[in-house]
Amino acid sequence: MKVAIVMGGASPEHQVSLASGKGIAKAVDLLGHTAIPMVIDAEGNWRDGQHEAIEILQACDVTIPALHGEGGEDGRIQGFFDQLRIPYVGSGVAASAVGLDKHLTKAVLTAHGIPVTPGVALRGTEVTDTEAMLQKLKASGLDYPLFVKPANGGSSFGVTRATDLSSLLAAVADAAPDVLVEREMAGREIDLAVLEFPDGRIETAPALEIHADPEQPFFNAAAKYESGGTRFVVPAPLDAALAERLRRTAIEVFEVLGCAGLARVDFFVPVDGEPVVNEINTFPGFTPASQFPRMWAAAGLSYAEVVDTLIRTAMA
Ligand code: DAL
Ligand code: MG
Repeated sequence: MKVAIVMGGASPEHQVSLASGKGIAKAVDLLGHTAIPMVIDAEGNWRDGQHEAIEILQACDVTIPALHGEGGEDGRIQGFFDQLRIPYVGSGVAASAVGLDKHLTKAVLTAHGIPVTPGVALRGTEVTDTEAMLQKLKASGLDYPLFVKPANGGSSFGVTRATDLSSLLAAVADAAPDVLVEREMAGREIDLAVLEFPDGRIETAPALEIHADPEQPFFNAAAKYESGGTRFVVPAPLDAALAERLRRTAIEVFEVLGCAGLARVDFFVPVDGEPVVNEINTFPGFTPASQFPRMWAAAGLSYAEVVDTLIRTAMA
């Protein structure tokens, strides 16, 4: 079988995607298929040329969009694949688009009664008009420390912990134009991996707890990709009731957003309080060291077996 692996892309997560794509391509070869790596450069152009890329994709049996962030994880390339009528791994247009937009994710989850990190969206003039911004934050009862994020980002690029007005204004300018300001959730950071099997079963792997590099202010991009100080603990030590609650919520998030194939649902578990969903990743980091394959390894599925499951589900 010929399997196209699309990687790179015009998103800040270009390099992470190349690492995910390389890992997946190696697994595809190990499974006895032929991996066809296809790179989209940092400007968004197909390395093979657009016309050639379409021909290559149409000649493959299935495509794996190992892309993170805008352009690849937000429904755009999924719509392109739909138009080419080629089968692909993972969520379709709507779930990808909602999943990458943190405002929309929260709106849909809230509508379904699923708790999310308290916060507000800043758009348009709210981003530039300090008075309007502060009024909105005050009306929402938000206070420092705050987390400021681009609404459509990934890998924590552009995310800042703001502790006063000047750091807040700098952080909002950095995350503009579409900004999310959230309350800091002191407590534990727990990820759940959701996988769809070819028979339609949706399952989770044992949860993973993140112990971010203590030298960093939070689990930021440096703690994710540059430091040796971050530790993942799988399975996360959780009492049975909490583990079951997170498992059920992760599957519910997957279902209400209409996801397919795979997703990683990230939670904050406050010291004293209810767990909240921080975000969903419809194509989570997929390097051999990433959380998603590590959680499945704890469930007894090797990296290659996870890739095999993704392929078979996409083609089922
Ligand atoms: N957005 C990055 C790749 C992650 O979720 O792991
Ligand atoms: Mg993310």
